[in-house]
Amino acid sequence: MSEVICRLDQLAERECREFEWSDGGEVVAAFLLRMGEGVVAYRNRCPHTGAPLNWYPDQFLTLEQEYIQCALHGALFRLEDGFCVHGPCSGDSLQSIELIEEAGVISIKHR
Ligand code: FES
Repeated sequence: MSEVICRLDQLAERECREFEWSDGGEVVAAFLLRMGEGVVAYRNRCPHTGAPLNWYPDQFLTLEQEYIQCALHGALFRLEDGFCVHGPCSGDSLQSIELIEEAGVISIKHR
């Protein structure tokens, strides 16, 4: 079973969108990030302390939109794979979330 999150054309390049879904009974906070013709998704949880990455809704990127940035202590993560390149959790990664994209519709698979 899968759950539709949004259409790809509803996201501009490098736009992020928060969403939640129930994963085996646990409510998981996550966000989408549009990159070119595709989209990636990560759990909204910093590997440093487990805190949410953002302070403002749908705001996850640095001003230059080159990295995902944790609002709490400034850790920087690569857009394409969530790998932390700077900050207190250097070398750790955001937890990526598997998406399904069919005919421009982005969905998440339920376990
Ligand atoms: S909680 Fe994210 S860098 Fe500390």
